[in-house]
Amino acid sequence: MNKKGSKNESLRGAVPLSHFFLRQRVQPGDLALDATCGNGLDTLLLAELVGEGGRVWGFDVQPCAISATKALLEREGRSGNVELFETSHERVSEHVPAGLAAAVFNLGYLPGGECSLVTSPETTVSALTQAAALLKKGGLIVISLYTGHEGGPQEAFAVEGWGASLDPREYNVWRSRQLNRPDTAPYLVLVERVR
Ligand SMILES: C[S@@+](CC[C@H](N)C(=O)[O-])C[C@H]1O[C@@H](n2cnc3c(N)ncnc32)[C@H](O)[C@@H]1O
Repeated sequence: MNKKGSKNESLRGAVPLSHFFLRQRVQPGDLALDATCGNGLDTLLLAELVGEGGRVWGFDVQPCAISATKALLEREGRSGNVELFETSHERVSEHVPAGLAAAVFNLGYLPGGECSLVTSPETTVSALTQAAALLKKGGLIVISLYTGHEGGPQEAFAVEGWGASLDPREYNVWRSRQLNRPDTAPYLVLVERVR
């Protein structure tokens, strides 16, 4: 378990809440996707959860994000079952097979780094559509949404519209917001495949 992903981490924000759900659902031997690797913390958690018998695919458009993720996985001895792609998550279905137990979309930009590119509504919704089709029954997509930066509200609106359009016979779709934080606080959208 990495330091930021300990089992007793408090649910102080969208990302810890997404990790809480991932720990509930992802089992050794599972297949998982990180659609936005960034610094690799979500990729590392998925690699730990699926174990050596599972497999993780990670995507990011920025070379610095892919190299940071690779370095973290190597440092933690978890690179063996992870395949990284320096390309847009719009190409997920070209590289990732069906049967995913989980897909992580931690949107927005990488804070505190030289990587400043943000995710965008069109590519995000395209990748979400592909990931939803690749989920196995009971599989989850966890989407951390940020509305405090330019373009963030538009992306959140597009993601919520996409989620609302999913057939309830096929997917359960949830929105989790913190009531005691400002409206701009990051929040989580969760998609579960029903059948
Ligand atoms: C909030 S960060 C991800 C944080 C990361 N999961 C972690 O644990 O550190 C968002 C990432 O999305 C990436 N990104 C932006 N557009 C993308 C795209 N079209 N496909 C894949 N990644 C993209 C950015 O480069 C950035 O690294």
